[in-house]
Amino acid sequence: MTESAPILPPTADALAAAGRALAAGRLVAFPTETVYGLGADATNDHAVAAVFATKGRPRFNPLIVHFAEPDAARGETDFDDRADALARAFWPGPLTLVLPRRAESRIALLASAGLDTLAVRVPRHPVAQALLTRCERPLAAPSANVSGKISPTTAAHVADSLGGKVAMILDGGACSVGVESTVVDLTGDKPRLLRPGGITEEQLAAVVGPLATVSTSAGDEARPSPGMLASHYAPDLPLRLDAGTLRSGEALLAFGPQPLPGAAAVANLSPSGDLTEAAANLFAMLRTLDRPGLTGIAAMPVPDHGLGRAINDRLRRAAARRSG
Ligand code: TXA
Ligand code: MG
Repeated sequence: MTESAPILPPTADALAAAGRALAAGRLVAFPTETVYGLGADATNDHAVAAVFATKGRPRFNPLIVHFAEPDAARGETDFDDRADALARAFWPGPLTLVLPRRAESRIALLASAGLDTLAVRVPRHPVAQALLTRCERPLAAPSANVSGKISPTTAAHVADSLGGKVAMILDGGACSVGVESTVVDLTGDKPRLLRPGGITEEQLAAVVGPLATVSTSAGDEARPSPGMLASHYAPDLPLRLDAGTLRSGEALLAFGPQPLPGAAAVANLSPSGDLTEAAANLFAMLRTLDRPGLTGIAAMPVPDHGLGRAINDRLRRAAARRSG
């Protein structure tokens, strides 16, 4: 087995070492406010190729490119008024914008998987900010998990799945948002919500008006975002949604003050019914309950508004039948 990468607190020395590793084309896992990212120099074809290989990610699924500040993202894409308004309102933060890629962009073509668009984001986590500033290059960074598995919200989660495959893991503690960034496509007439996430639809609509949404029940081919695969975020145990009773041997992913009785194990996303707390706990609790000796995980219903949309999206995909 490959030796696991060091988990380092984000000291000036560790950030400098991370910057050197990235400049040399190596991969560095780092915290963002949403989930941990598997970072590579977005301008280096080999480094970006290594991201796909390391995650086992299909080459048709493009990556988000992270920048220290909005002007850097602007240099690689065609920003319009809507992009300006959204960037002003929500950057730095958990929002990703899909925009036309500039012909002169330095970003590796592989990062956008052959599309003529680019997904860009300015994260607000202080360690992500420090790393992006320090390394002076944009970072292509998908969530730092094996493709199709549960996203990591702590450095230990990253070490569990990709520890042997990265130069180092920068430790920024538990991610405060806990679900990935919201992805908005601005390449059409109307802004389109490709992935619900840390910025809610209500927040977006207040800035750019109502968004078009994309049906996730359409066939994979019909999806405008290659990453909208039905099965994703998958625990090993089967996951059952909207549970009203428990079956024998099932673990309970509870929400609210009245967890269903009789579970073999319980994790409560938010005893007080708070969606922000529930989002922050979601992936870590799915991991906790995903263990041998249980027959499955039953999830109680979560309200489908605000951050509840992103939570329900991830739960639906975690529950989707897997093709293999
Ligand atoms: O919060 C996040 O966004 C995290 C942190 C690390 O920033 N990153 C993340 O990356 O979730 P990833 O690779 O797990 O998800 C990126 C999503 C995928 O669904 C992908 O298909 C979509 O963004 N995407 C990327 N580039 C795109 C493009 N050019 N057009 C449409 N969708 C795109
Ligand atoms: Mg992911």
